[in-house]
Amino acid sequence: MNRRLLLAARPSGIPGPLNFTQNDVAIRAPAADEVLLQTVYLSIDPAMRSWMSAGTGYQPGIELGEVMRGGGIARVVESRADGFAPGDYVQARLGWQTHPTIAGRHLQKLDLSLGTIEDWIGPLGLSAVTAYFGLRDIAALRPNDRVLVSAAAGGVGQIAVQIARIEGCRVVGIAGGPQKCAYVRNELRAHDHIDYKAGTDLSAAVAAACPEGIDVYFDNVGGPTLDAALAHLRQNARVVLCGRISQTHAAEPYGIRNLGKLASTRGRMQGFLVFNYHDRYEEARTWLAARLRDGSLRQRLHVVDGLEQAPVGLGMLFRGENNGKLVIRVAHA
Ligand SMILES: NC(=O)c1ccc[n+]([C@@H]2O[C@H](COP(=O)([O-])OP(=O)(O)OC[C@H]3O[C@@H](n4cnc5c(N)ncnc54)[C@H](OP(=O)(O)O)[C@@H]3O)[C@@H](O)[C@H]2O)c1
Repeated sequence: MNRRLLLAARPSGIPGPLNFTQNDVAIRAPAADEVLLQTVYLSIDPAMRSWMSAGTGYQPGIELGEVMRGGGIARVVESRADGFAPGDYVQARLGWQTHPTIAGRHLQKLDLSLGTIEDWIGPLGLSAVTAYFGLRDIAALRPNDRVLVSAAAGGVGQIAVQIARIEGCRVVGIAGGPQKCAYVRNELRAHDHIDYKAGTDLSAAVAAACPEGIDVYFDNVGGPTLDAALAHLRQNARVVLCGRISQTHAAEPYGIRNLGKLASTRGRMQGFLVFNYHDRYEEARTWLAARLRDGSLRQRLHVVDGLEQAPVGLGMLFRGENNGKLVIRVAHA
């Protein structure tokens, strides 16, 4: 059987099991040019909440009763498409299901010379690629930049911290709680950290950790954290709007107060979507794979077992319960 999780109710607040129903259907044998897959890993991403909401995101909303959208890695079980054979590993928009049948043209075969299957869902996956283009293209990162990264222990954030460090910048990571902050300092080797849950004034904490101010703020969270960072921008600063997880389920949106700082510093703030860099994913993965090989880049995966746990996993992101890039292991590789 192909076990599927369908969108049953649109989210209000943090998404979770009540938003989904389980539905088992017969596995569909591949037609010509199609491939039957066994899902191995599913990536769990904050953007999924917006996909669950009708027509409010950057992609069309998922219809109620549809299989939940989601990307991941799968093993080929049976192929009627050129270029794919049983045992190959591919990445694709698989959906939350154990055995999708998908046209070969929608699959990308993994190049396992670049990294392991776990690397492909982690430090070669889309979160890592997001950090790469956010810093390279949007921030136009330069050596010696003073860089601040929020959600620094998360999937995108941990790669952003390390890219900035590797490129010779001074990096400060913001994370929630002492354990995550210790990870940011000791494992990711950021120069300093800010525990935004410590109860101290955030703007004062940014001033203390970034005494010379900020050239690049890589923002994953929005809201008061973005405001605190804006207050400490240097001349010609670049603010990368990668995500705004603190605001996606907020009852009242936070009103940013320090936008004027962009004018006085002649700074710039720019959003981006990783999907627009599709033609350059290979460039990012080549760079990331080289750093994996030389040991300068690492990534912590937070693995939750079982397709049925995907809805719980999604909620974990919004409660800060994930320690690293969150993935669902649907089957062993
Ligand atoms: N632009 C793009 O193309 C693109 C692509 C992928 C991801 N993104 C964005 O990148 C960001 C990170 O995504 P990810 O997949 O790597 O997730 P993640 O950082 O692994 O997980 C989300 C983290 O956000 C933090 N968080 C949750 N609620 C918060 C709040 N109210 N205030 C401050 N921090 C909060 C938590 O970390 P703490 O425990 O440290 O609070 C949590 O672990 C998201 O905003 C996502 O939408 C953008």
